[in-house]
Amino acid sequence: MAAVDSDLESVELAAREHWLEGPPHPLFRRMRSECPVHWTEGFEDFPDEAGFWSVTTAEDIHAVSRDWETYSSEHGITAAGVLPLELVRSMFIGMDPPKHDRLKALFQAGFTPRRIAEHEPAIRSIARRVLDRLDGRRRCELVSEVAQPIVARVIGSFMGIPERDDAIWARLMNSTLGAGDPDVNPDGVDGALERDVPEVFARCRELIAERRQRPAASISDDDASPRGEDLLSVLVHAEVDGERLEEQEIVMGFFLLMAAGNDSTKATFCSTMRALMEDREQMQMLVENPALVPSAVEEALRMFPAFAHFRRTATRDTELHGQSIKAGEKVVLWYASSNRDETHYDDPDRFDVTRDPDHQAFGAGGRHFCLGTALARLELKVMIEETLARYPRMQLDEQAGRPEYVESPFISQLKLLPVRLAA
Ligand code: HEM
Repeated sequence: MAAVDSDLESVELAAREHWLEGPPHPLFRRMRSECPVHWTEGFEDFPDEAGFWSVTTAEDIHAVSRDWETYSSEHGITAAGVLPLELVRSMFIGMDPPKHDRLKALFQAGFTPRRIAEHEPAIRSIARRVLDRLDGRRRCELVSEVAQPIVARVIGSFMGIPERDDAIWARLMNSTLGAGDPDVNPDGVDGALERDVPEVFARCRELIAERRQRPAASISDDDASPRGEDLLSVLVHAEVDGERLEEQEIVMGFFLLMAAGNDSTKATFCSTMRALMEDREQMQMLVENPALVPSAVEEALRMFPAFAHFRRTATRDTELHGQSIKAGEKVVLWYASSNRDETHYDDPDRFDVTRDPDHQAFGAGGRHFCLGTALARLELKVMIEETLARYPRMQLDEQAGRPEYVESPFISQLKLLPVRLAA
């Protein structure tokens, strides 16, 4: 990470040098105390993109999140992005009310904690099947061999896609969201736009055509998908204000759910396992008392939010924490910072599985509050329980390499986590 004693005014927060080892927490700590609403002039990777305001405290992020009329999601959802604006705006995460609310409502009933709890046996069986593949092994790479296949099958079964295609969809989501990291996508942002996005569209069109012919895709007993319709069928057959969705809206609705389902839970699970391996005492507490896992999940979401930020854009001249913001300027909500706000948490950088905190990992209570909270919590609980039950002495495998982060100021996740399965 770049030096923290540099002049805050000249800091380019999204610059690659700050994100080589995850979010730059020392820098965020200084911003919260010295300059809680901070201006960054631009981007080295996106020279044509305008700069942005950074909001870093929990209270300010809460205020911005709740005021969608002043802070819109329709002009982009990340500080700088790979996807063209017209595609971002086809997802409900990139819309404002009322259309946002109508589209989101199509899915909300299927994502309540009660409905999601019905999927626990199926999710546990997916996790066990993936862990079974490690039988007889002494080492593995936790991101690609455990986390990725579990989350890909869970969201894949919700979407109604066949298991044989899980790896393809996971690759497409990773290379689009992590386009700035040369290991994740050697062809970079241009490659994502020229190759991956068209592939998403082509593959998705085939699935849409199938759904039009056969409304509810068949679902096998082992699937975690909601009984009845898969989520792609919901999009294909949805009517909003008496009109069917356009094809681009269906494809991007699918993309939103697939991307959120593939990247987020995987990210938080891997960071949690790393934290536990680095603090044996915390790991032992969970192994001896699995009833602590739900509290550990909340602490993990606080410490390691899967998305470091989301963005809004000011619709009118306004003021935040004494700082003037002009209509049209970008306003970035750094959840990675607010979750360690020292005015909310004692010793915020300490990972404590007994803390059971509230947090802003899923957003800060506004219109765009995460749809998948219950699913993410359940997946994390099951993945941690099953992994620790089988490998209570799992250790970092330093011989095989250090844990490595995806280079990204948006997706906060490890791309490499080599482990020894039993000490
Ligand atoms: C650790 C897991 C997860 C984290 C940390 C997370 C985080 C977030 C955050 C911060 C937002 C708010 C975006 C904003 O501020 O504009 C969001 C929205 C969303 N999330 Fe999640 N998410 C997770 C898992 C999931 C899963 C498993 C799904 C499953 C489908 C999902 C689906 C969505 C959707 C559809 C939205 C858009 C909501 C809207 O615009 O109203 N998320 N998520």
